[in-house]
Amino acid sequence: MTGKPQKIEVFDFYDANRASKRSSIKSTRQILKALKAARPGETKTAGEFPRRSWGHGGQPRPKSLHGTGMLRLRGVPTTAHTGATAYPYVAGTSLRADGVYLGRDLNGGGAFCFDPWQLYERGIISGMSMILFGQVGTGKSSLAKSFAVRLVQAGRKLSVASDKKGEWTRVVHALGGSVIQVGPGMGTRINPLDPGTRPSLSAQGVPLTDEGWALMVRTRRMAILVTLVRILTNRELSPAEHHVLSLALDTGVQAARARKGVVIIPDVIDALETDKTHPDVLVAEASSVMAMTLHRMTTGDLAGMFDGETTAHFDADAPATSIDTSALQGASPEAARVVNACSGAWTEAMVTTSDGGQRLVIYEEGWDNISSEADLQRMVESWKLARAYGIFNVLILHKVSDLNMAGDHGSRMAAMAKSLLADADVKVIYRQDRSTLKLTGDELDLSDRERSLLKHLDKGVGLWRLGASSFQVKNDLTRVELALFNTDERLVTAAKATSEELRV
Ligand SMILES: Nc1ncnc2c1ncn2[C@@H]1O[C@H](COP(=O)(O)OP(=O)(O)O)[C@@H](O)[C@H]1O
Ligand SMILES: [Mg+2]
Repeated sequence: MTGKPQKIEVFDFYDANRASKRSSIKSTRQILKALKAARPGETKTAGEFPRRSWGHGGQPRPKSLHGTGMLRLRGVPTTAHTGATAYPYVAGTSLRADGVYLGRDLNGGGAFCFDPWQLYERGIISGMSMILFGQVGTGKSSLAKSFAVRLVQAGRKLSVASDKKGEWTRVVHALGGSVIQVGPGMGTRINPLDPGTRPSLSAQGVPLTDEGWALMVRTRRMAILVTLVRILTNRELSPAEHHVLSLALDTGVQAARARKGVVIIPDVIDALETDKTHPDVLVAEASSVMAMTLHRMTTGDLAGMFDGETTAHFDADAPATSIDTSALQGASPEAARVVNACSGAWTEAMVTTSDGGQRLVIYEEGWDNISSEADLQRMVESWKLARAYGIFNVLILHKVSDLNMAGDHGSRMAAMAKSLLADADVKVIYRQDRSTLKLTGDELDLSDRERSLLKHLDKGVGLWRLGASSFQVKNDLTRVELALFNTDERLVTAAKATSEELRV
């Protein structure tokens, strides 16, 4: 361009200056001419593009792809509602900023904040539990830990029902909570027959009477005894066995009352031993079998853990508590299940009270709980009461088929596992193996897009199904949290230092 500098500063979309208009017309003519020339001679076969006769391939040219003038964008004032109608499927709805920040909504919704109690009040979810699926190392535990840490800092409480790897110990300590370590030779005992914390209100919201409380405690104790026997015998109890267990529990409670203590498993075993000489052959036989079965709790690898009065102190006011069972690694699967059942039932007995405020209960690596029928049944029942007692449960699994470990298709166990899945109104799915994609998609009723997404999710990114809505969320961790949550042992020392920072 020569001569006087052009005065035009801003162009509207159609308002190009004359010179560029002229050059644009010229180049268009050139193109048309080239196309025309190419048509008869150069197009050898039908459908073939004409060969280009100008410029060098791949080289940028002045104004290429720029149009003939500068574009001035004008904003269009509109409402979010109109925008969502004009541009559907572009960005999902947001959950609002209530609750703790967990990360970013990758579908354009901005910050992703989560508070299950608020969501329940707003009617977005109707069940107070969440299941977290994902392959090893995809960031499931980190999500649960960041959620727990931030929730506790916002005033809620945390209980880890059973922590097989002991990976929550650092987190709970950093939050100023207490950790109960259970294992062979640890010297800490938990009595699964402890009455638990007495709530002032029943699940129905009316004041709990002494009779109501006594009934609640007896039901709990019977449930854990049945659970233990089922785990140890790997079968259902016969009516006679159920009967003798119930009798022995009552006798045991009387014996404990006489010595002004709490009933313990050896009390029940003593009562069963006495009933071995019962005149009714059925009762005598069943008592003998039950006594032998429960002896397993007081001998071998389980000795000293659940066979006496509780030595651990459960502080209901502590911001966080966990039961660390990592000392049991390498124990028989049967022993591991017993430990899970006892620590799970004990934690539930302690936290099932509406007086303790809102509490998060974590079942870390929960497939052991699922594979034991009695344990599963206990979970299904206690999950139904979660809402009444202000509890939000988080169960961490690898894949949906972990739920199938519960039992064969069509069995009672399988039905219970399904009911657990149905009760969980929040489902978070981290990256899944190709082999499990179909089952995951079918069971969780995922769309095609969601199914294809699951194989490619990055570490720390999960698909959240919340009632009817779905979100893709990247969990953001702070520097302090990253060091604290790291499951890599080399970073334990760093984590210890940073846990001090978190406490400040
Ligand atoms: N959101 C995240 N951002 C960055 N790193 C993460 C994130 N989530 C997990 N990690 C890293 O991945 C490691 C394994 O995560 P972890 O939560 O233990 O996986 P999982 O419980 O699924 O096996 C963690 O130690 C952490 O270093
Ligand atoms: Mg984990």
